Amino acid sequence: MSQTSKVVLLTGASGGLGSAIAKHLNSKGFIVYGLGRKPVKSPYYNWVYMDLVQPESIDNAIKEIVKKEKRIDILINNAGIGVTGGLEEMKMNDVRKAFEVNFFGTLFLIQKVLPVMRQTQTGTIINISSIAGYTGLPFRGIYSATKSAVMRMSEALSSEVKQFGIKVIDVAPGDFKTKIAESRLYTPLNPQSPYYEDYKRVLKMIDEEVDKGLEPEILGHKIFKFLAKKQPKLRYNIGLILQKMTPVIQCVLPGRLFENLILKHYKMKQ
Ligand SMILES: NC(=O)c1ccc[n+]([C@@H]2O[C@H](COP(=O)([O-])OP(=O)(O)OC[C@H]3O[C@@H](n4cnc5c(N)ncnc54)[C@H](OP(=O)(O)O)[C@@H]3O)[C@@H](O)[C@H]2O)c1
Repeated sequence: MSQTSKVVLLTGASGGLGSAIAKHLNSKGFIVYGLGRKPVKSPYYNWVYMDLVQPESIDNAIKEIVKKEKRIDILINNAGIGVTGGLEEMKMNDVRKAFEVNFFGTLFLIQKVLPVMRQTQTGTIINISSIAGYTGLPFRGIYSATKSAVMRMSEALSSEVKQFGIKVIDVAPGDFKTKIAESRLYTPLNPQSPYYEDYKRVLKMIDEEVDKGLEPEILGHKIFKFLAKKQPKLRYNIGLILQKMTPVIQCVLPGRLFENLILKHYKMKQ
């Protein structure tokens, strides 16, 4: 089957990275289905309702697409939410919601797509994790944990489904210029909190780093390149050079030394 007529399921197509991926794949002739909560009329993808926190909507979305296309060639798990706050002060509902969207919903969607891919003995699953998944970042500990969970899942999944001709690729972006901060779950700043000054400063830095991030179109282009590869790598880190280097530096440095670099970067007490 030619690359161009492949059926792609993409979550989070309405967001910054998702819409860039949809646009690029559409321009290359892929048939893109964008799964999301809000109805969207897009020239680049067909919208299908799906909320990652509602398993029934995931089930229905897959049934609808399979009925129409009879196949799913590519699943791109891109939808996700940011979450910030000190671990001591986070609302447990926010913690659960972040895992529901970034991890549990994503896994349930994979479970629904795999039987379809196994039938054709081919397929590619791309999970969008994050470079933040390599490190427990201050005031982003839960976000890091959800993305780390996605990475571990990608590794295990890859070794389980290889026998069926299905490829799994984990794409870990660094900062990209999107509106992710707008829908972030965040613990409000509280001047009475012992974490107030640190959290305020780090939050500002996180937002500035996203604003100075790469253009989403770069990711759309990269995803197309990975899909075209016969033997793609298990993981790609895509970001500014220093962000791409972080996991490498973390690997070679003793834990406390690396921690000190993080504290220094965020101007926190060592
Ligand atoms: N931007 C960055 O710097 C960066 C860095 C590393 C990793 N990432 C990851 O890249 C992915 C895309 O991020 P982005 O920056 O493009 O963020 P974004 O603009 O906020 O887009 C997030 C997307 O996720 C969807 N979504 C949120 N909750 C959902 C739910 N319950 N069910 C279904 N869809 C849901 C949203 O769709 P609707 O609201 O339309 O339903 C939206 O399309 C995320 O997984 C994010 O963690 C981003």
